[in-house]
Amino acid sequence: MPTYETNIRPTPSQIVEHPRITVIGTGYLGATHAICMAVLGFDVLGVDVDERKIAALRAGTVPFFEPGLQEQLVAALDSGRLSFTTDFDQAAQFGDVHFVCVGTPQAKDSAAADLTFVVAAFEALATRITRKALLVGKSTVPIGTAARLTELVAEVSPIGRELELAWNPEFLREGFAIEDTLHPDRLVFGVESAWAEQQLGAAFRPILDDGTPLIVSDLATAELVKVAANSFLATKISYINAMAEVCEATGADVNLLATALSHDSRIGGRFLKPGLGFGGGCLPKDIRAFAHRAQELGVGQAVAFLHEVDDINNRRRVRTVDLIRELAGGDLAGKRIGVLGAAFKPNSDDVRDAPALDVARMLYLEGAVVRVYDPEANANAHRAYPDLEYSDSMNHAVTDADVVALLTEWDEFREAEPAALGALVKARRIVDGRHALDVDAYRADGWEFRALGRPAQPRTAALAVDARDERPALSA
Ligand code: UDX
Repeated sequence: MPTYETNIRPTPSQIVEHPRITVIGTGYLGATHAICMAVLGFDVLGVDVDERKIAALRAGTVPFFEPGLQEQLVAALDSGRLSFTTDFDQAAQFGDVHFVCVGTPQAKDSAAADLTFVVAAFEALATRITRKALLVGKSTVPIGTAARLTELVAEVSPIGRELELAWNPEFLREGFAIEDTLHPDRLVFGVESAWAEQQLGAAFRPILDDGTPLIVSDLATAELVKVAANSFLATKISYINAMAEVCEATGADVNLLATALSHDSRIGGRFLKPGLGFGGGCLPKDIRAFAHRAQELGVGQAVAFLHEVDDINNRRRVRTVDLIRELAGGDLAGKRIGVLGAAFKPNSDDVRDAPALDVARMLYLEGAVVRVYDPEANANAHRAYPDLEYSDSMNHAVTDADVVALLTEWDEFREAEPAALGALVKARRIVDGRHALDVDAYRADGWEFRALGRPAQPRTAALAVDARDERPALSA
């Protein structure tokens, strides 16, 4: 529930019904938010300290891979409603509602989140804004940050507490960024006054009018929703991957297990897909920062399980290397491994904490000759790990391979013909790190096929077919 007195309503004149919007930080979240707000009909100014990023966006180029976003950027620029700048004075003058979308990476020396960019953005705006306006944090932050920032803003702002602050967490998934921004499952407004609630409501009017559920809360709850949601999702993935470990010790099949569990509507099939586990710029760092913050707050024990969630996830990477080594005959030195996938998930070029690339790196460290192919992430992967070899095509990556490892489940890999791949490799051996391939089709073509949590030996054909026919979609 809101903590303010709801009977004190602001007069309508104090609410800007069609607010001008700034978006500070034009990375993944900020660029998407800025473009989508312009698509919804608002006048939007995107702001970043990175001149190159701003120049690219002005020229109509999205500096990362996200399906559909490029077209929407061009349309928004053409509409005249979207522009970009590096000038904070201009931003302060322009905006009625300012969204702060800068990054909160994991700190270099601990599990905590690095808040340098968030604090800098709030300070840069607060020292410059001279009329009533709303600052809205969207970045994922440790609980208590918004309260701290409220005090900072009041201290440095020329208009003091007239400049208000709200928190509005973002839940967008890479690969579905536009859909998740324009049609979110819910909106969360963390506010301290009726004015802030109504002003934020005006900024989201088209989405609210669509019937999107709105939860209005205090600042701390709004901050917590984001990390609690990501912790839950990470826990669900690690849960099924922990079951995969048990399957490996017993000869049970984690795929069939996940299918059986997913039919229980209390459990559901989403985020229950076993395999190489989670990575990316959010889930891993968010659960670590959450555990760290909970410890600081004296409630570390309440989320101690998140350390185990992280450990289970990391063990999947090590275990995948074990499977590949096993298939390679027990020693990886000098063996040629064709690695399919580098991004942390398909339809993304993001390699931050990518399980695929981590496995490729471990193989390389054991002396394997690793050739990586990813449809979109090769360039980013090369920057992160220049020592690995990169291929421009799937066929090139698997040519003469002793073992093929599918590590990110792009459609291109799912749809590959086992016979066509088989003609290129040195030996028909494959590890399916994402449970994405048709095991029977590969085995029928003479491939030795291994996957985490699945028995090494084929089941009888009849049983396997029955189970597959019943299987609902498990992925997000
Ligand atoms: C996530 C959250 O979904 C989003 O709400 C939040 O705002 C940011 O973090 P994203 O990082 O884009 O989004 O990726 P997501 O689709 O959630 O996948 C995360 C990782 O989990 C990927 O590496 C994916 O391969 C893995 N995953 C997902 C599984 O291993 N199994 C699953 O069942 C689902």
